[in-house]
Amino acid sequence: MIKVAVFVSGRGSNLRAIVNYFKLNRQKVSVNLVISNKPDCPAFNFAQENEIQTFVVKSKNTNKSFSWDEILNILKKNEIDLIVLAGFLKKIPNKLVKEFRNRIINIHPALLPSFGGEGMYGMNVHRAVFESSAKVSGATVHFVNEKYDEGKIIAQKCVDISDVNSPEEIAERVLKIEHEILPAVIEKFADNKIQIENNRVILK
Ligand code: GRF
Repeated sequence: MIKVAVFVSGRGSNLRAIVNYFKLNRQKVSVNLVISNKPDCPAFNFAQENEIQTFVVKSKNTNKSFSWDEILNILKKNEIDLIVLAGFLKKIPNKLVKEFRNRIINIHPALLPSFGGEGMYGMNVHRAVFESSAKVSGATVHFVNEKYDEGKIIAQKCVDISDVNSPEEIAERVLKIEHEILPAVIEKFADNKIQIENNRVILK
């Protein structure tokens, strides 16, 4: 069984998808920690309702919060195997990336390497996709490295958006895919079926 920490900042639909997916498969993946920079976000409330241990990472106006060094210690003490960024809006410090190299994954709501980078999150992404007039979009799960959205791609799935009338419609279609591929990648990780060969990520 692997122990997972999920980092969140918002609505928490991906956290929900992960928790629900592994409810039936608890012996494989256990979501042990949820960490947020926003203690009042719906994702954090969901974690608390589901009796998952929560921690707040320090941001300007939160008290009872932890520094990144303290978060690192908490992750180690809880023997976390995998960190999942599911709508987490802060940059992961390099020290943490280094300690958890190839053990931090992020879900991005577009087909990387397009429509990524600093400031490309949430509706900003879908608006940019809409304005580009792209005919497909999708979701990407990738490893997290020191640069925004630049780690190696683990999995992607695309969706036809040729008939959409708004960025919101794109968001809706992409979110459905996110909820499919993120738990699937976590399961692959738990089964040790994600390998790096010739500098490429291979799913076995
Ligand atoms: C998702 O679209 C995810 O791809 C992005 O932020 C959004 C989070 O949504 N990184 P939710 O909080 O999981 O509902």
